[in-house]
Amino acid sequence: MRIDLTVNGRAQAAHCEPRRTLADFLRHDLGFTGVRVGCEHGACGSCTVLVDGATARSCCVLAAQADGSEVTTVEGLATTSLNPLQESFRRHHALQCGFCTPGMLAVAAELLREVPTPTEAEIRTAISGNLCRCTGYHNIVAAIAAVGEENRRGTAGEGGRDGQGA
Ligand code: FES
Ligand code: FES
Repeated sequence: MRIDLTVNGRAQAAHCEPRRTLADFLRHDLGFTGVRVGCEHGACGSCTVLVDGATARSCCVLAAQADGSEVTTVEGLATTSLNPLQESFRRHHALQCGFCTPGMLAVAAELLREVPTPTEAEIRTAISGNLCRCTGYHNIVAAIAAVGEENRRGTAGEGGRDGQGA
């Protein structure tokens, strides 16, 4: 079947089996390899993308279900430079292997859009469904909190207060 999507602001279309997951469709059919596939059953959060602005575990969504949607992957978070959230992850050493990072960035973007100045508890709750084997989470929380602090001061750019930058 033919699937039409908007991915990171650009129209995309491809044919796939009706059983194709959105994760595999994005990675293998459209080439958005920033979509990471870990557990493939909704447990790790690494495949999280934004579908019509809301986080979704793309391994648990069929491409057919997302037909006509607007999808944002990690490739869409920045254009020529890192957005404030990505830059904060870099500055706070919030990643090691980076496998979990696209999913973490997606949930953080959604959180910061809904709660521009989140508490530590709100941050930890937001990322609680995303597993990271490397960092111990502390630096991830610090990176997101720093963008929240920039939002409080009114100094965050695109990707801060509006969360997505995409
Ligand atoms: Fe989708 Fe783990 S790969 S939740
Ligand atoms: Fe390696 Fe999170 S940085 S799993």
